[in-house]
Amino acid sequence: MVDIRTEYAGLTLRNPLIVGSSGLTSTPDKIKEYEKSGAGAVVLKSLFEEQIEMQSGSLWKESDSSEAADYIHEYVKADQISRYLELIKKTKAICSIPVIASLNCYKMDVWIDFAHQVELAGADAIELNIYFMDTDLIYDHEANSAVYINILRKVKETVSIPVIVKTGKSFANIPAMIRLLKINGADGIVLFNRFYQPDININTMQIVSGNVFSNHSDLSDTLRWTAIVSGKIQDISIAASTGIHDWEDVVKCLLAGASAVEIVSAIYMHGPEIISQILTCMEEWMNQTQYYSLSQFKGKLNYAQIESPNMYERAQFMKYFSNRD
Ligand SMILES: Cc1cc2nc3c(=O)[nH]c(=O)nc-3n(C[C@H](O)[C@H](O)[C@H](O)COP(=O)(O)O)c2cc1C
Repeated sequence: MVDIRTEYAGLTLRNPLIVGSSGLTSTPDKIKEYEKSGAGAVVLKSLFEEQIEMQSGSLWKESDSSEAADYIHEYVKADQISRYLELIKKTKAICSIPVIASLNCYKMDVWIDFAHQVELAGADAIELNIYFMDTDLIYDHEANSAVYINILRKVKETVSIPVIVKTGKSFANIPAMIRLLKINGADGIVLFNRFYQPDININTMQIVSGNVFSNHSDLSDTLRWTAIVSGKIQDISIAASTGIHDWEDVVKCLLAGASAVEIVSAIYMHGPEIISQILTCMEEWMNQTQYYSLSQFKGKLNYAQIESPNMYERAQFMKYFSNRD
């Protein structure tokens, strides 16, 4: 009998499989189904700051006074927030696995009070989905990282539940940024979010959506940075995310040093049954390889544990191409 419990961001999970933030986790009934299929935890869909502003903005055009605009904005915000709090409460009432709320934010002050309400509603942790697209031609590294750090610090001051930061890859130095987040109180880090991917339709000459779902080839970067960050930063709690599609991907992420994994595309594509399939195969592999707990192999192949850590740093294909025509 193998023990697949894991400690992630201060939470004890019955296993490392987390259903990631998305439409999958937008109703208590769906979440209950993932719990039945074996999920270790869920991250609720994000409440987007931008979404609230857009909705209140479109109503606002129909009104003609700034007083009415303020009222509509506050009303829409309060309505969205109370629906989100209901989602947390109803989910907590019917599920026993940890429920992680997800706040998408890019402005420091907007969500601070909301974070407190999320804690009161019963969320077990908060995942901050912080992202802004910096396209200025002058890059201000300090200002850029300060956005993340300031939001994190404020939320940490406001709540006592664990606070996790979900990041993208667009930092000049990923380990240095993660170290800063840890020093400033992040209890866990999700590597990485996968954002909306634009594409161009050359027939209609329009910008369209690229692949909504990830595939296996997206896993490499997840593995590389999980291995490097977990090897360089002591006691960092990482949930690997993006490109995890089967049980072998989960084992690879754990070997690279992740404490948990977040899965979205594979569940959209194959349904909740994939959760129990992954768990069964992972347990079989553990039995065969005689690992009886995750801690026996977690991080075994991270940057600090392997003989040639530069395997994770290699960026060029020199050797590969020198042997090919
Ligand atoms: C349809 C869809 C909706 C998503 N919505 C959110 C969201 O609300 N908040 C968030 O942080 N990530 C969101 N994501 C990103 C996922 O949580 C996840 O980080 C990403 O899909 C990579 O994981 P995967 O390779 O398992 O799909 C969404 C992804 C998809 C496909």
